[in-house]
Amino acid sequence: CAEVKIAVFGRAGVGKSALVVRFLTKRFIWEYDPTLESTYRHQANIDDDVVTMEILDTAGPEDLLQREGHMRWGEGFVIVYDITDRGSFDEVMPLKNFLDEIKKPKNVTLILVGNKADLEHARQVSTEEGEKLATELACAFYECSACTGEGSIHEAFHELCREVRRR
Ligand code: GTP
Ligand code: MG
Repeated sequence: CAEVKIAVFGRAGVGKSALVVRFLTKRFIWEYDPTLESTYRHQANIDDDVVTMEILDTAGPEDLLQREGHMRWGEGFVIVYDITDRGSFDEVMPLKNFLDEIKKPKNVTLILVGNKADLEHARQVSTEEGEKLATELACAFYECSACTGEGSIHEAFHELCREVRRR
């Protein structure tokens, strides 16, 4: 039975925990709980295979040493930004560069997620900018909302698993 280790990164407050919980339970949690990191085990059926996903939901303000450890541990990565927070978008590239550094000479398997798509009125990062960045990172891009469930959160996690297993 295959196992895939997935780590979720992104600035504090972008909705990493909300996304993971939405994926696992199809629910949304309202209260903001600045996370202590947590790991979840989840069995999924992907293309007729049973895959055990280990999902590490990192805490926004982790220190560099913790971050490095999490990056070494992970096989597939989700980098999340908040479409209403330009600063969180600007942090994506440095995160990817750090990942490359840690994983070299291996290619990093990742997806880019723009979260909080329900907050259209407060949008600071356009869909086109997200797409462009994903092209630069050579990865898949998903815009979604952990709050409403719109977008393809399920598909995003499954696609990441497929990619990890293809390598
Ligand atoms: P840290 O663990 O502190 O790094 O934050 P996080 O990235 O895990 O963010 P978290 O899931 O705790 O969400 C932060 C806040 O944003 C919470 O108040 C959530 O309710 C809210 N939130 C998360 N996702 C969405 C979303 O898709 N839409 C809206 N409107 N709010 C969201
Ligand atoms: Mg969290």
